[in-house]
Amino acid sequence: MEKGSQVSGENGKEEMFKPLLCKTMNSKKILITGTSGFVGGFLVEEALSRGLTVHSAVRRSSKTDILDTLDTTLVYFDFEDIDGMAQILRKGSYDYIIHNAGLTKAKAKEAYFKVNEQYLRNLIEAIRNADLQLDKFLFVSSLAAYGPADYQSDGIVKETSTPHPVTNYGRSKLAAEQYLKKQQDIPYNIIRPTAVYGPREYDLLTVYQTLAKHIEAYVGLTKQRLTFVYVRDLVRAMLDIVMSDHEDAGYFITDGNSYTAQQMNAIVKRELGITWTLPIKLPILLVKIIAFCSEKIAGLSGNYPPLNIEKVNELRARDWSCDVSPLENDIGFKPKYDLECGLKETITWCKENKLV
Ligand SMILES: NC(=O)c1ccc[n+]([C@@H]2O[C@H](COP(=O)([O-])OP(=O)(O)OC[C@H]3O[C@@H](n4cnc5c(N)ncnc54)[C@H](OP(=O)(O)O)[C@@H]3O)[C@@H](O)[C@H]2O)c1
Repeated sequence: MEKGSQVSGENGKEEMFKPLLCKTMNSKKILITGTSGFVGGFLVEEALSRGLTVHSAVRRSSKTDILDTLDTTLVYFDFEDIDGMAQILRKGSYDYIIHNAGLTKAKAKEAYFKVNEQYLRNLIEAIRNADLQLDKFLFVSSLAAYGPADYQSDGIVKETSTPHPVTNYGRSKLAAEQYLKKQQDIPYNIIRPTAVYGPREYDLLTVYQTLAKHIEAYVGLTKQRLTFVYVRDLVRAMLDIVMSDHEDAGYFITDGNSYTAQQMNAIVKRELGITWTLPIKLPILLVKIIAFCSEKIAGLSGNYPPLNIEKVNELRARDWSCDVSPLENDIGFKPKYDLECGLKETITWCKENKLV
């Protein structure tokens, strides 16, 4: 099959289905949204490695350089066009959908709710209109939907915890989850990753680059409990969930450990070969001022910076512990990467790509 072959336009008008798409070992077909992003590229690779026929939903404007190297078919999806999506879904006759597309950075609250909640609603409506009989629909939410453990009396975020999102991003993911949980006819699961890192991820890259310049910045004056998941472990778990019989369950995912920012920085410094740094402890108020200014400056060129006011609400949280035992029990999840292994691979990639 042609690599990155294109199938259909936003309105389902460009009928260019390859007449005989060769189905490999596994005859099941999966549609993954948000494949042009960081997690999406790895998801497509993982799905292909399991012998699935993989269609990658992208926008006309999406960067597809990674997807173009993979044996996946590009599908042009417009989440505003329910009929167009339904047409594509009907023709695709998918067994699984992973709805991974999401807006992680935006100035306006409305933008988060439009992309993260309303587009999920539109997609579910399109699935119904297409009369698609799915084996599984996996929605990629976030730990941010429940917020940090700071607000939980037992010190850990669990399925039964009362959600306490601290950002509009988290609130929009929570709204999407609440909607999905009411859809009785959709065999869904929800995954809520903590901070995901790995090659091709550019937010934590700022941390590596700052450390490479010998500056070791800490937010707030008290210690944090941070959690992480390496992207390859995440996508493995996502495909395991999709192919499992477990339905209507939500899963938090981390590598099972919690780390201080100091521990993380120590690993990065070792991998970078940095022997000395200038440690700086930034009070929250100062970080807020920096975030405010960087939003204003980036706004002049129509951008939204990695350090923004919303991000400060996450950075100031002290504890991101969450319960991964349901994922271990239902899916047999065992992470292959702790932060040390994952960062080793990530920094090697950064060095190879001359980013640090
Ligand atoms: N990275 C993390 O630490 C993390 C943690 C928890 C949860 N998540 C969730 O994981 C998913 C993937 O995140 P990521 O880190 O891979 O983010 P990313 O690199 O920003 O990728 C986001 C993807 O969503 C697509 N998308 C964004 N806005 C869209 C819109 N209006 N219409 C259609 N597609 C749109 C993007 O398409 P374009 O390329 O065309 O913009 C891209 O393919 C998201 O749902 C995110 O909320 C991520």
